[in-house]
Amino acid sequence: MRPFKGRDVISVLDFTREEIDYILDKADSIMGLASENPDMLKGKVMAILFFEPSTRTRVSFETAMKRLGGATVDMSEPRRTSIQKGENLTDTIRVVDNYVDVIVIRHPLEGSARLAAEVARNPVINGGSGAEEHPTQALLDLYTIRKEKGRIDGLKIAFVGDLRYGRTVHSLSMALSNYDVKLYLVSPELLRMRREVVEYTSKRIPVEEVDDLDEIIEEVDVLYVTRIQKERFADVSEYMKVKGSYRITLDHVKRMKEDAIIMHPLPRVDEIDYSVDRTPQAKYFKQVYYGLLVRMSLLALILGAVE
Ligand code: NCD
Repeated sequence: MRPFKGRDVISVLDFTREEIDYILDKADSIMGLASENPDMLKGKVMAILFFEPSTRTRVSFETAMKRLGGATVDMSEPRRTSIQKGENLTDTIRVVDNYVDVIVIRHPLEGSARLAAEVARNPVINGGSGAEEHPTQALLDLYTIRKEKGRIDGLKIAFVGDLRYGRTVHSLSMALSNYDVKLYLVSPELLRMRREVVEYTSKRIPVEEVDDLDEIIEEVDVLYVTRIQKERFADVSEYMKVKGSYRITLDHVKRMKEDAIIMHPLPRVDEIDYSVDRTPQAKYFKQVYYGLLVRMSLLALILGAVE
């Protein structure tokens, strides 16, 4: 295993299964380590450079850093920075890199995080690069599955929704291909999973594309629901065709295995009915807490506070 200290986190493919499991193991103990040593990241500063809206990713990275004794600079309002004056991304990164020890970036362009990592001397963490990837979300999704199901191997996992523009499912498919799982991809024709992700994943694990959730609802262990990524549609009329095309209700939950779980990276719009929130299968708010643990673990490893 390569040491974590100083590494970038751009794609889930940057990590082997052994390394992923190591990060998740560390997430199990990070709260204990933080209470023994609440200043483990004292003196370290993280820049949050977000060019797209975010609640969970931004706030959880910020709290993760602060819970470990580190500090943060939030630059998520590009209008208040020199980007407004026409400064480009690489110059901005080069500058910010002088002030901080780690940069978390979210940007609408694919390849943006990779570019930032090439320019910065300090580690860069991808907090979402267009429709491409969201690697830390995939890590917290794997952690949620492991915590709630006790294992990842041997499970049947279905993704439902916008598999074309949703970056979380791109990262999670590739990350899951390290495990012995079966993957079902359920979406309307227009929102089918990106071909390159299907190609990569289906070489490593069984993947089946399904039109109708009813075909598989009774057998899945994990139902991973996603929002239609309205902001990524080039054409509004295309969005109107698929809007509201799926919605998880109590009727679905009744047909699921009793110990199956429902996940969602959030924000939810209307794809999961609010009545589902009260069912024991609903894990999407617990998933949020697991995200904090995984991001604490990742920061502690990358900044060299834990081995
Ligand atoms: C996701 C994202 O930004 O890709 N949100 C998140 O980080 N939890 C999912 C989404 O926006 O639908």
